[in-house]
Amino acid sequence: MDLQGFDHVAKDYDYFISAFYGNSNDFEAFHISLAEEYGKDGILDIACGTGALTIPLAKAGYDITALDLSALMIEEMKKKLQKENLHVDVFTANMSDFNINRRFSLAIIARTGFMYLLTAKEQKQALLNIREHLTDGGVLTLNTFQPNPVEQAENMNVSIDEYHFCAEYINHEGKRECISRLTAYDYITQVMHGSWKFETFDGHGNVSDTRICTQTTRHTYRQEMEYLFELCGYEILDVYNNYCREAAKENFIWVVKKIT
Ligand SMILES: C[S@@+](CC[C@H](N)C(=O)[O-])C[C@H]1O[C@@H](n2cnc3c(N)ncnc32)[C@H](O)[C@@H]1O
Repeated sequence: MDLQGFDHVAKDYDYFISAFYGNSNDFEAFHISLAEEYGKDGILDIACGTGALTIPLAKAGYDITALDLSALMIEEMKKKLQKENLHVDVFTANMSDFNINRRFSLAIIARTGFMYLLTAKEQKQALLNIREHLTDGGVLTLNTFQPNPVEQAENMNVSIDEYHFCAEYINHEGKRECISRLTAYDYITQVMHGSWKFETFDGHGNVSDTRICTQTTRHTYRQEMEYLFELCGYEILDVYNNYCREAAKENFIWVVKKIT
């Protein structure tokens, strides 16, 4: 199974995300403050997933459009939109080549969405395409992780059974589920190959179902991102380490502006 498209995890995505990250107050507050500052001519939520941001921003009254590569993630979001009686234009598309006849003053790629682009060429293509959908002076925010040499060394020669426990939650069927992960890092391509094991338990505590999903992300150096933004016509406004706006160290939350 391939976690890259997120189709295989769509139904339980919200459950395991809250098990991983806990509450999403800072995450939401950060993006709502960007929406207040830059979102007056519309917001595009790219790689929107099941609507972690689309829903609160729509509820707060912002004019928001959303897209994601995974039709099943979008299906989960649509159920929530319907429940809340919210109308949002949502479509299935790849951030590297979507084409909609509209420009937005704010584009958001939240929570690692950009890192699923696995080559510098794909990243550049996405940044240029998003730029085409921004108004003059429009703003884009996305996050990246810096390659971590200690983690890289630990993950270079992993054996196929070295799974590490990550999180546990109750899934959409009310069953206990555990996730563990095995990662292998390729220092040449800066690509992290992840293998995620989902184990579902029956009422007696026995594993009743096991699914293995693969997921691949690319880690990028700060300077590399700085050059990439410059190459694609963006000026860096801010860079933070986290959604509380602490000084950037190894995780980067970028806020960049389209240069015209
Ligand atoms: C970790 S989830 C984040 C979802 C949501 N933004 C959130 O904060 O919960 C990453 C999302 O990126 C989407 N994605 C991955 N590659 C993409 C691409 N090339 N274009 C559009 N969406 C993509 C996946 O389908 C998935 O829904």
